[in-house]
Amino acid sequence: RLLSVVLSGGAGSRLWPLSRQAFPKPFMKLGGSTLLQQAIERGQACGTGDLMVVTNKEHHFLTKDVLRQLSDPPSTTFLLEPRGRNTAPAIALAALQCERQFGSETVMLVLSADHLVPDVEAFVASASEAFRLAQEGSLVLFGIMPSTPETGFGYVEVERVSRDSQKALRFVEKPDLATAQEYLATGRYYWNSGMFCFTAAAIISAMERHAPEVLSAARHALDTSQSKGDAVNFDLHAFGLQPDISIDYAVMERADNVRVVPARFAWSDVGSWPAVANAQPSDASGNTFPDDHVVAVDTTGTHIQVESHGPKIVAALGLRDLVIVDTPDALLVAHKNSAQEVKKVVDILHSRK
Ligand code: GDD
Ligand code: MG
Repeated sequence: RLLSVVLSGGAGSRLWPLSRQAFPKPFMKLGGSTLLQQAIERGQACGTGDLMVVTNKEHHFLTKDVLRQLSDPPSTTFLLEPRGRNTAPAIALAALQCERQFGSETVMLVLSADHLVPDVEAFVASASEAFRLAQEGSLVLFGIMPSTPETGFGYVEVERVSRDSQKALRFVEKPDLATAQEYLATGRYYWNSGMFCFTAAAIISAMERHAPEVLSAARHALDTSQSKGDAVNFDLHAFGLQPDISIDYAVMERADNVRVVPARFAWSDVGSWPAVANAQPSDASGNTFPDDHVVAVDTTGTHIQVESHGPKIVAALGLRDLVIVDTPDALLVAHKNSAQEVKKVVDILHSRK
């Protein structure tokens, strides 16, 4: 039995002004549909029957709207978080709920709601290898061949077992730049895509060993929760007792049964505007204009995205490597080199509230 678990939690503040607290990254449309819809469809393409979505309770109905867009909506359980508690508690809750609802040998395909994987068929091929390893009891992560010394990712050093799977020797979450450069030079490291595959039993037993406090707090949160229809609602206090830690630090860095399936698919976590621009087709001058209301003259490497209610013409003249994102109530104009700093703008706006 295969279950898709979609984690839909992060705010994605580097994609301001499109991504906001009320409208975070999973609900952003890229290439025709929202990233959340694409994640759900990616799971379905792998043959997962049921779906579990772990998300903030504020996004329950927005998520249901996304499910209604699907041609064949899966039967879905919502784990509705009163607040974000990071990925280790989210996965622990999903695993415990999965154990109760579907049995502990169920294979969970854990997907992020805010990734871009354009080639679904290539993903399905990698996933079938992951399912096989997961059934043997491994904790599987999908590894991405790194292209730059990113410091925002987890790195996993591997020992080659076969072309399709590798044994993880060491997992390091978010190394500093010098370390990341070193890893890149060896050619033995993959990025952690943040997509995982394991049986409920395997992740629960790894947590028993490496993060017992996460597991027992999740058990307590689930025991005190209330189910209503397709949704599990948590008690605010019990939920808040869970430690704020990611699955990477809590389990992946510590476990010794991690296997890496090298991705044969293109992947982006579209974490910033330059990443969004890279993820879509550009014109001959390297510009990306998702809508056709942009008139550009002598402009290169520039991303212009307009989210207005009616048609709005934007004219660009003599621009180099800018990001311009216009929404009804906020406009971003940034240099691509500074686009990682959009978070600072968000912090300033928050401090003014
Ligand atoms: N439901 C829920 N609740 N989801 C959450 C929560 C939470 O409290 N916190 C994070 N998520 C979701 C996010 O929406 C995202 O889809 C995913 O879990 C990963 O969280 P991020 O906050 O984006 O993690 P990260 O980018 O710092 O690092 C992770 O992803 C990298 C790849 O994008 C790590 O797994 C890294 O090792 C990895 O390289
Ligand atoms: Mg991320």
